[in-house]
Amino acid sequence: MDIRLAVSDLLQEAILKAFPALDKEDLPGPETLEIPPDSKLGDFAFPCFRLAKPLRMAPPRIAQMIVEHTDRPEVATAEQVSGYVNFFFNRVNFARNTLKDVLDKGPRYGSEPENGKTVVLDYSSINIAKRFHIGHLSTTVLGNSLRRIYTHLGWKAIGINHLGDWGTQFGTMIAAFKRWGDWESVEKGGIDALTALYVRFHEEEQKNPEMADEGRAWFKRIEDGDPEALAIFNRFKDLTLRYAKGVYELLGITFDSYNGEAFYNDKMGRVIDELKAKNLLIQSEGAWVVDLEDYKMPPCLILKSDGATLYATRDLAAALWRKDNYHFDKSLYVVAYQQNLHFKQVFKVLELMGYDWAKTQMEHVAYGMVSYEGRAMSTREGHVVYLDDLLKRAQEKALVIMQEKSPDLEDMETAARSVGIGAVVFATLLNNRIKDIDFWWDRALNFDGDTGPYVQYTHARCRSVLKKAGEVTDAPDYTALENDEAQAVLRQISLFPEAIRKAQEDNEPSSVTRATIEVAKAFNKYYYEHRIIEGEPSKTAARLEMVRAASEVIRLGLDLIGVEAPEAM
Ligand code: ARG
Repeated sequence: MDIRLAVSDLLQEAILKAFPALDKEDLPGPETLEIPPDSKLGDFAFPCFRLAKPLRMAPPRIAQMIVEHTDRPEVATAEQVSGYVNFFFNRVNFARNTLKDVLDKGPRYGSEPENGKTVVLDYSSINIAKRFHIGHLSTTVLGNSLRRIYTHLGWKAIGINHLGDWGTQFGTMIAAFKRWGDWESVEKGGIDALTALYVRFHEEEQKNPEMADEGRAWFKRIEDGDPEALAIFNRFKDLTLRYAKGVYELLGITFDSYNGEAFYNDKMGRVIDELKAKNLLIQSEGAWVVDLEDYKMPPCLILKSDGATLYATRDLAAALWRKDNYHFDKSLYVVAYQQNLHFKQVFKVLELMGYDWAKTQMEHVAYGMVSYEGRAMSTREGHVVYLDDLLKRAQEKALVIMQEKSPDLEDMETAARSVGIGAVVFATLLNNRIKDIDFWWDRALNFDGDTGPYVQYTHARCRSVLKKAGEVTDAPDYTALENDEAQAVLRQISLFPEAIRKAQEDNEPSSVTRATIEVAKAFNKYYYEHRIIEGEPSKTAARLEMVRAASEVIRLGLDLIGVEAPEAM
């Protein structure tokens, strides 16, 4: 139940009764209710000076009259303090309604019915023949979480991995493979073997510059659809995807489409024809570009002088194809902020082409950089942290911690996997996405603080209380939940649906992460100050309902950010 709305209804009702002549336009909405700094002053306060002008009356007198006409004690009671009406909502009722809502809906709590709208999410979007490093972590987990959040709120969400599978470097890689490679060692050595071939080619090319032609020739063969070139390239692609899918599986991530840059090879003619027809394409230093000077941006490169297309050309084609095929209402690109300019240019070109939806429906969901234990990543200095290594270490470290903390745990490996990987994902989605992240093991894996393990542990604690209690069939007596600590838990639970909506509005999963932490914190405070299984069974039953609701909401919060919630830890 949204308690703010309930109190607001009550307030409006009282105002209408007290001042029947008041213009409906002056009726205060739910947003005018303030939360008093001290709970002794009530759960909500209404500042009456807002009505002083239309009513031409002093605020304390208005407050008094509102109090006299507030007559639904089952929702809340009211008190006048100078120019304020302080509302104390009915705690028993609040408990009953909040718990009913969660327990009826379970994992669907805070969800919305299907709205017929489609969102397309471009995330992770890896490059072929490159290993994942921690720089790819954010796009991967942000996109996955957004997809879950949109789905929860009734959208149809389509996940796209816009593969980087096009470029002259792939010609070079084939040339290197033809010179020194063989399938057996490439299959065994994986992406690292491909990289080694590539690096070797570049080294030798320094001595024999004519080797560059070999790379170019192979790339031309890929472009022309030569079967041998394509066969080799497709095996490189398979190899990369097999590796990537291992990482995605650990993270519980899937995609609806792997259509990447190469997929748009035969779909760019339309873009170029349209740009020409609309007089947007101009020649500049041999290349074809769209001039964006009026918008204070450098030109958007469409065709190189040799006729080759560019990254932006492919994104233009992709945007149109996605619109035609998915009929999206929203199209999100979860890509690092380094590509701000690129997306601004692409969106602007679409707008100039006359696609108004580019302005309202396309959004670059940018995020900050990740450094590791205080050091920025740098390929050049050889300071690279690969995602598969990171996830492996996360599981190992979690296993060590858990063997110490709970040596008797059944299925320790599975729990350590959830905790280790959850810690990494949670740390990535903890703060506003645009902030840079510095990843530290000690911080991420701490069982205390704003961490995945802390929240997972709280969930497991709830589950263990419920298990210990067994079945309690007495009708719950909600007066057991009138105390401040229980009310704080209920309040956090009631605020949770709003956090999900906020996460979707701002494309900001950290809003869900934060709200989940708040539920866990409030629950732990309650847990340390109150006994759950005690006294009259009807009171125990009410407390257990709250424990169950807290566990459901924490599990839901974790699920929405793509983190597992083990039953026991
Ligand atoms: N593969 C690109 C990179 O690693 C990201 C692609 C993002 N998606 C897009 N439609 N441009 O930088």
